[in-house]
Amino acid sequence: MTPMYDFAPQADAEGSLAKPELYRQLVASADALTEGEPDAVANMANVAALVWEFVPRLNWAGFYRVIGGELVLGPFAGRPACIRIAMGSGVCGTAAASGTTQLVEDVNAFPGHIACDSASKSELVVPLVRNGAVIAVIDLDSPETARFDREDAAGIEALAAMLAARIGG
Ligand code: SME
Repeated sequence: MTPMYDFAPQADAEGSLAKPELYRQLVASADALTEGEPDAVANMANVAALVWEFVPRLNWAGFYRVIGGELVLGPFAGRPACIRIAMGSGVCGTAAASGTTQLVEDVNAFPGHIACDSASKSELVVPLVRNGAVIAVIDLDSPETARFDREDAAGIEALAAMLAARIGG
């Protein structure tokens, strides 16, 4: 039977997929999955699952939402994680407080990094901004040092820009 959803990266004939193309496909899939769906939890859950499916070498991918002046855990893929993070605290709190992408090659060198899973070595956190306010962040963790570069950041920033209008708030 054909599955209802079958989103996966489509490699070219050589079997390779450059990062810009991988993220273009990820954003297109996320756009298709969330279009017309008003429920924020459903949309974040599907996008966390898509990131997990598309982006290799991760040990965590998901959302923290800004609620009552702090970050609260949202839908994710990976191990159970810290539930509440103060604004300005750790990598996620820094991204939320500053409204800027945090690309951290070595989390152990980041002041105040919050170790939810000691396996995490590098991290990429991108804020979701709506009407000029940060409403959530998307967080990717990897067990490899320096796993993420500017191309990963640009890809997740494109995802965040598309999604910000589709997660309520
Ligand atoms: N390491 C993050 C906390 C969230 S977990 O990685 C899922 C931080 O320092 O904000």
